[in-house]
Amino acid sequence: KKVVLTGIKATGRPHVGNYIGAIKPALQLAGETGYSPYYFIADYHSLTTVQDAGQFKDYVYGIAASWLALGLDPEKTTFYRQADVPEIMELSWILSCLTPKGLMNRAHAYKGAVDQNLQNNLDQDAGINIGVYSYPILMASDILLFQSDIVPVGKDQIQHVEIARDIAAHFNRVFGETFPLPQYKVDTATAVVPGLDGRKMSKSYNNTIPLFCEEKELKKLIKRIVTDSTPPQEPKDPDRSSLFLIYREFASENEVAQMRNSYQSGIGWGEVKQELFQVMNKHLEQPRHRYKELMDTPREIDEILRYGAEKARHKARPFLKEIKEKIGYSG
Ligand code: TYM
Repeated sequence: KKVVLTGIKATGRPHVGNYIGAIKPALQLAGETGYSPYYFIADYHSLTTVQDAGQFKDYVYGIAASWLALGLDPEKTTFYRQADVPEIMELSWILSCLTPKGLMNRAHAYKGAVDQNLQNNLDQDAGINIGVYSYPILMASDILLFQSDIVPVGKDQIQHVEIARDIAAHFNRVFGETFPLPQYKVDTATAVVPGLDGRKMSKSYNNTIPLFCEEKELKKLIKRIVTDSTPPQEPKDPDRSSLFLIYREFASENEVAQMRNSYQSGIGWGEVKQELFQVMNKHLEQPRHRYKELMDTPREIDEILRYGAEKARHKARPFLKEIKEKIGYSG
């Protein structure tokens, strides 16, 4: 069976970009035969930015409840919190010692933060903690410890998966064949889901549609999605429209075909937004209800995650031992 693995940081409520870019394709793979899914909450990764215990807990439960409400089956999927699997941290140190510092200097997230500091005439590393800097190594550890073959993600994570591959290949050269080389899986149509302002939907741009916001809020946010000034009656290109990109992820095949026609024959943006709200709300109504129930019973979530962590450690422990033996640790 192929191992498919992905994670989401607990740095806010999950949004439509996370859903379309990662959760939806991951759940689809989990439902097919021939895959062994490992989905987790990257809570140690969140610590680079979220340093408020109460908020942190709430975000962790929010991500967990979202996966569960959308149909993740904890029997078929190994579903856990990263911090509950200390083997990941142990491997992370080992991998750190095999990772050239230059590789981290080139990582997008770190480079982006440095560029921003320089633009603001600050010291290049101002406000950047070592966690941000070595973030890709912890992520490589997440991926490699479970011998992942496929990592479904959005486009912004491609470089991280490539770094994990580089680190794995390097380890294999030094200590002998150990890790399979992971492949990212990015759907080209939804690699970057745009946010309200047209830029990538991202918690850090504050332009997100939270997946389980209230109905009224959903309607309001959809109205705020930017569109151009093409008049209603003029034909529009569905493949260059963020509204259509989101619409097709929630609508049935039939509805998508009809909407495509409407774009070509001319439809006003207001009407598209109305329809988008309808299909999204219909699709999310039940999961939203389940999400709320779960958020009210965090003990239930804890239990599911503990069970998942046990399964994850059961797999991780012997493999980590094997890795350590290759390096020369015995006992
Ligand atoms: P995170 O928490 O920022 O995002 C979770 C997933 O959602 C995808 N995504 C998007 N996809 C399309 N359009 C968007 N606008 C959009 N915004 C977010 C992300 O690409 C990601 O797949 N470093 C990771 C978490 C992580 C991880 C891992 C992922 C930690 N360890 C191991 C895979 C494997 C992150 O920060 O994702």
